Amino acid sequence: MKFFDREREIDEILSILEGEPNSIYFIYGPLNSGKTALINHIINNELKKSNKKYAVFYVNFREYNISSMDNFVEALFEIDENSKEKTIKSYIESFTKSVNDIINLYYGIKVPEPILNKLFGEKEKGRLVFKFIRDLFINLNKKGVQPIFILDELQMIKDVVMNGKRPSLKSLFQFLVSLTKERHIAHVFCLSSDSLFIEYVYNVGELEGRAKYLLVDDFNKETALKFMDFLSEELLNKKLSNDEKEYIYSYVGGKPLYIYNVIDEMRYKKLKEILDLMLKEEISKLDMFLEFLEYSKPKVEIKNEVIELKKGDIISALKLFKNKYEINKKDIPMPVYIYLVKENILLLNPIEGTLKPQSFLIWNAIKKLL
Ligand SMILES: Nc1ncnc2c1ncn2[C@@H]1O[C@H](COP(=O)(O)OP(=O)(O)OP(=O)(O)O)[C@@H](O)[C@H]1O
Ligand SMILES: [Mg+2]
Repeated sequence: MKFFDREREIDEILSILEGEPNSIYFIYGPLNSGKTALINHIINNELKKSNKKYAVFYVNFREYNISSMDNFVEALFEIDENSKEKTIKSYIESFTKSVNDIINLYYGIKVPEPILNKLFGEKEKGRLVFKFIRDLFINLNKKGVQPIFILDELQMIKDVVMNGKRPSLKSLFQFLVSLTKERHIAHVFCLSSDSLFIEYVYNVGELEGRAKYLLVDDFNKETALKFMDFLSEELLNKKLSNDEKEYIYSYVGGKPLYIYNVIDEMRYKKLKEILDLMLKEEISKLDMFLEFLEYSKPKVEIKNEVIELKKGDIISALKLFKNKYEINKKDIPMPVYIYLVKENILLLNPIEGTLKPQSFLIWNAIKKLL
C-alpha cells in the first residue's frame, strides 16, 4: 500500500530530525487518522534522504497489555539473541559497534536476556532502565549516530503510571526531558489518539515548555477527494466521478481508514450499499449507547471524585453537533465531555480547546438519531 500526501507533516518532522533534539513531540489526532502510518512512512521511506545516520527505536504499547511496571519494561525491550555480553557496559559498546547502516530500525531497545533479567531484578527498576537507555543513546551519539525514540500508543501505559504506581508517568517524562532538552541525545516522539491523555500531558507541569504538539488530523475535504482519486487508481484501476467522491465524503469525511475501506469494498460491492451499511452500523452503536444511558448510571472520575451524569445533559451536549461539526469545549460541562470523549464519541483538541465527533460517520449518526 503506497503512502499518500501528508507533505506538510513529513517536512516538519524531517526538519525536526535534521536539528538537535530539544523537545518531546506529541503526535496526536483522531482514531485512525494515520499517525502510525505517517511515522512508519517517514522511517521507512523519507529518512534515507537525510545525510545523517539514525538508529530508530520504535515501541508500540498497543501490542502489550501494560498493567504493571514489569510489562512496561518488557514492552520497551527486545531480547538480543545474538549477544553473549554479560555486563551492561560491554553490551552497550558491542551494540554500538554493530550499528553501521544509514538507517537502523529496531522494534524496542535490544538487550541480551541476562542483562534484561538484571534490569528486572533491581528494586528501583525505572532508574536502572532509564540509565541503560540513556547510556546507550550517549554511546550512539559519540559514534555519530542519532537515536530516535518512538513511543506509539503511549496512553496504554497511563493506567499503570497514573495510578501513582512506579514508574510514575512523571518520572518517564523527566527521563524523556533529560534525553531531549537537557542532553540533546535523542529525538523523542510520543503518539496517541487518546485526547484526554494528551490533555493530561498538556497540563503536566514537568513538561511545560519542554514538549510540542503535532496534530495529524483526518484529511480536509480537498485532500480527502484527492486520496479517493489515488486509491481508486490503485485499487479499482479507474477514476471515480465527482458525484461519487462527494457522496463518499458526505458519509465518512476525511478519515483515511474509512476512505480506504470504502474504496477497497467497491471492488465487489455497490457504493450505496457500502455507505448505507457503514452508517447503519454507526447508528446502531449510538442507539445502543443511548439506550444504555436509560439503565446504567453514567459516571466519570475527575481528580478522584466520582461524578454522576444525567442522561438529559449528555443528549443536550450531543445535540449541539446537529448543525456544527466543531464547537468550543466550554459549551459542554467538563464531566459530560470527558464522558463522551472516553466513549470515543467525541474528540477533544486540548490545544485548540475544541470538541468534535470522532468521525463524520458518528456525526451523521448523531444527526439522524437526535
Ligand atoms: N497517508 C496515508 N496514505 C495511505 N494510507 C493511509 C494514510 N494514512 C492512513 N492510511 C491508512 O489508514 C489506516 C489507519 O492508519 P493508522 O493506523 O496509521 O492510524 P492511527 O492514527 O495510527 O490510528 P490509531 O488512532 O488507532 O493509532 C492505515 O492502515 C492505512 O491503511
Ligand atoms: Mg496508531
